[in-house]
Amino acid sequence: MTQLFETTAFLKNKISKHPKIGLILGSGLGMLADEIENPTKIKYEEIPGFPPVSTVEGHAGQLVIGNIQGIEVIAMQGRFHFYEGYGLDAVTFPVRVMKELGIEKLIVTNAAGGIKQDLEPGDLMLITDHINNTGQNPLIGKNISEHGVRFPDMSTAYDRNLQKIAKQAAEKMDLKLKEGVYVWNTGPSYETPAEIRSLATIGGDAIGMSTVPEVIVACHAGIQCVGISCISNMAAGILDQPLSHNEVIETTEKVRESFLQFVKQLIKD
Ligand code: 6GU
Repeated sequence: MTQLFETTAFLKNKISKHPKIGLILGSGLGMLADEIENPTKIKYEEIPGFPPVSTVEGHAGQLVIGNIQGIEVIAMQGRFHFYEGYGLDAVTFPVRVMKELGIEKLIVTNAAGGIKQDLEPGDLMLITDHINNTGQNPLIGKNISEHGVRFPDMSTAYDRNLQKIAKQAAEKMDLKLKEGVYVWNTGPSYETPAEIRSLATIGGDAIGMSTVPEVIVACHAGIQCVGISCISNMAAGILDQPLSHNEVIETTEKVRESFLQFVKQLIKD
């Protein structure tokens, strides 16, 4: 708690804006933060209380505060992943900080492997719900009632109104926005084909190594979330080919323009 206040006080001192929208930018999707106008950029390593910095390539590791489409936003350019060895407290701490800074809505993005047959690499998928397949939960431990209730309801973790706005934004742009359920596995190894077959049967449409802990904490904190997965590759066994992080990065580079335009439209709407 005291750490949270120290971190928030540090950031409030550095920024004059009052963003109501937070953005978490996933692997290969950080370029959206480069579109922020009049940016204040603060490296994670300079922020007291932030976890020591991530080394995953393609993650700049900074907060960027400024305007997109005239709207004040605060973006995480790069996130902390559980597979890097961070505890879930650390992974989700920036969400608590953004809440203290006043955000009411959170746009979460990630690169994910496609499980459902109608997905293909390069698709953007609206996350309609998630499956936490890890057995981990960032809220385990004593509940801090100032943060939220002991047993938070997750029925509308992905806010219905924001989903509607996302679909309308896609329509305006003639973007074919797919939809599906995101599964969180810890990684860092990708899944086996048998694991993917089993996840398909329990209702998973796409799979990744992030997002769910941040959404659980955001939901606990009463923040409305909307999630977008960039389908970067097909999950193991769907195609007869090996998976690689290079493919993930290459695909996110290809969808760069449509992803940027779509999220900008979403923020505006
Ligand atoms: Cl196939 N699996 C997981 N766990 N994360 C991913 C992925 C697959 N593709 C991108 N991220």
